[in-house]
Amino acid sequence: PKNVGILAMDVYFPATSVVQDALEEFDGASKGKYTIGLGQDRLAFCTDLEDVISMSLTVVQSLLHKYDIKPSQIGRLEVGSETVVDKSKSIKSWIMQLFEKSGNTDVEGVDSTNACYGGTAALFNCLNWVESSAWDGRFGLVVAADSAVYAEGPARPTGGAGAVAMLIGPNAPVAMERKFTGTHMAHVYDFYKPKLASEYPVVDGKLSQTCYLKALDLCYGRLCEKFEKAEGKQFSLAEVDSVVCHSPYNKLVQKSFARLVYNDFLRNASYLKGSGSASLEPYRCMPLEDSYTNRDLEKVSQQVAKPFYVEKVEPATLIPKQVGNMYCASLYGGLASLLHQKASDLHGKRALMFSYGSGLASTLFSVQFHEGEGNFTLSNIHSVLDVARKIESFITVSPEEFDKTMKIMEIRYGANDFKPVAKLNNLRPGTFFLTGVDTLYRRTYDIK
Ligand code: ACO
Repeated sequence: PKNVGILAMDVYFPATSVVQDALEEFDGASKGKYTIGLGQDRLAFCTDLEDVISMSLTVVQSLLHKYDIKPSQIGRLEVGSETVVDKSKSIKSWIMQLFEKSGNTDVEGVDSTNACYGGTAALFNCLNWVESSAWDGRFGLVVAADSAVYAEGPARPTGGAGAVAMLIGPNAPVAMERKFTGTHMAHVYDFYKPKLASEYPVVDGKLSQTCYLKALDLCYGRLCEKFEKAEGKQFSLAEVDSVVCHSPYNKLVQKSFARLVYNDFLRNASYLKGSGSASLEPYRCMPLEDSYTNRDLEKVSQQVAKPFYVEKVEPATLIPKQVGNMYCASLYGGLASLLHQKASDLHGKRALMFSYGSGLASTLFSVQFHEGEGNFTLSNIHSVLDVARKIESFITVSPEEFDKTMKIMEIRYGANDFKPVAKLNNLRPGTFFLTGVDTLYRRTYDIK
């Protein structure tokens, strides 16, 4: 099979949300800290009616319906998530409810977990399957979904929630360039979830930022090397039309792109000539380790990167800025944003995608866009995603209400024998919701 990649996709995020400038005030943070300092506009969150399972059910059902795919046409279903509802039972097993009805239980795949990287692991599993001798001609389906919540404190505004579903097969409008990848994996304690009775992570924010930027450097170097060996010419951002990064919060994406431009500067990329990059000269011989925390270098490289950022990165930041960190779904929410903003313009273009999961696992990979055919075209993906309507239908709640919900969710986590108290009218039509958890911890869902 040729041009294996994403044939179709859909994105879901809860309607319930809080705006970041109200949250700043409520938290007593200085004005602009969350909106400018972190670069975030809004944060979507689950009430006790929704969880990672309901969001996954919603996005899968929607994708199958809108692209007219029968459940029997799916041969592999992979889920990437770090939201633990059950330490044994996979999220995939709940999604099987949508397939059993049609009689299709012949569906390989379970869940993949490593912080925000699980969605990428799930995607690669599906791509590998379609490209393997085991492939039976049916579609793969990837679900990346998470509810990202933090304890009260500086990390709380970097939460979010959402799910992305992607249909995988050959002749895709979003085709993977599988030769051009760079991976870096290592053992670090930057963000982890050792407390099994709590949904909240333990996080070393500053360390996680440095780990992310170092991983990006290493992945970029490795991808450049592979490209240059295969193509016999230098790789730089000049070869790339868009860059989509895992987005814990937008400021880190701005810094990441600036970091790539600094890499290109060190590699003497010709597109930087005449772009003001001479201002980076004082930092050419800076020890690598110092370069991750040097504020002046950060500022100067962001200035040099700015015009390229507007062109290559900004279009992919819409959903992450509006929804917040969706962990595994964050990178793919970025891709959905790009397809939403630029669909008609993407044919023949290339995007780099950077996936980072703390702990850590990271891969930079490349996709190429094609017009596509039938239901699987860039323009149809654009209309199915329907991003503008989803954003317009946000329900804004007060920070007090958000805070109250977080407290309810703390009690709900790992609990049994309850029914949700949140109001159904806060859900968009077609949304799955939790109807209850019985004394044996069995969860049941319905659709609005
Ligand atoms: N106006 C404008 N900017 C402001 C203001 C203000 N009033 N106040 C602060 N800022 C800026 C700061 O200068 C800083 O920007 P900079 O980094 O460009 O200097 C930014 O706002 C954040 O302020 P900090 O003081 O650095 O914030 P704090 O340390 O309180 O928290 C952090 C930020 C560490 C990101 C925290 O939210 C966190 O731990 N989040 C979770 C971890 C995370 O997302 N890590 C990323 C990779 S791992 C993953 O994906 C989960």
